[in-house]
Amino acid sequence: MTDASPRKLIIAIDGPAGAGKSTIASRLARKLGYVNLESGAMYRALALKAIEWDTSFDDEAALLKLAHESRIELDPSIGGNHVLLDGSDVSARIRERDVTEAASRVSVHPQVREWMVARQREMGLGGGVVMEGRDIGTKVFPDADVKIFLDADPVIREQRRLDQQKAKGASAQAMGAELRDRDRRDRTRAASPLVAAEDAIVLDSTSLTEDEVLAQIEELVREKRSG
Ligand code: DC
Repeated sequence: MTDASPRKLIIAIDGPAGAGKSTIASRLARKLGYVNLESGAMYRALALKAIEWDTSFDDEAALLKLAHESRIELDPSIGGNHVLLDGSDVSARIRERDVTEAASRVSVHPQVREWMVARQREMGLGGGVVMEGRDIGTKVFPDADVKIFLDADPVIREQRRLDQQKAKGASAQAMGAELRDRDRRDRTRAASPLVAAEDAIVLDSTSLTEDEVLAQIEELVREKRSG
C-alpha cells in the first residue's frame, strides 16, 4: 500500500516501552514507503554523550549545552534506524543498559525536550514519516494526520523486553525493576509526560499479533486518505 498520493502524512505512534512501537512503526513505514523516525534514539544519543563527557544526568543546563554542541542524526536510509552522534554510528551502543537508564533521566528536563522537539519537527515537517516516541501526538506533531497510542498490559510489556534482551533470573528481575522505574518516570515527569493525546486512537496490543496491530493502523491510514 505504498502511498502514491501527493500529500504525505505524518503518523505519530506513542506509547510505553514494550508495547511494540518500534517494530510496528518500522513495518508501517516500509509498507507506505515512508521514513521511520525513532525519537527515543535521539534522547539515547544525548544520554550517551552525557556519559562520555561525564555530565550529570540531573544538570539540565549542562545537558542543554551538550545538546547544542552535538550533532544527532537519524539516518533511516541505510537499513534500520541508524543513529549518528557527531558523525559516528552509535546505533548499537545506545541500546545498552547504561544508556537506556541515562536516556530516561536525561529526557525529564523541559529544556532538553524543547531542543529535541524542535529537531524532530524539522525532520518530520515535510510528512511521509512515521514518528514514534512518547510525546509525538501531544507535543511534537499535535496536528499529526494519524495518532496512535499503542499500549499493552505491563506484565506483557515487561516480558517482551526481557525476551528481547534474553534476560533470565536475577538479571531479569533487576531489568524488570528498571523498566518499571523508567515507565513511572515517563508518566509522572512534569514536562510532556507520557499520555495518549485526546484525539489518539488507543490500541491495546496485549492479545493482538503484530500483523493484527499493523492491519488496524493501515486501516486508519486508509480512512484518513480517503476521508
Ligand atoms: O523509546 P526509547 O526507549 O528508545 O526512549 C528512550 C528514552 O527516551 C525513554 O526513557 C523515554 C524517552 N523518550 C521521551 O521522553 N520522549 C520521546 N519522544 C521518546 C523517548
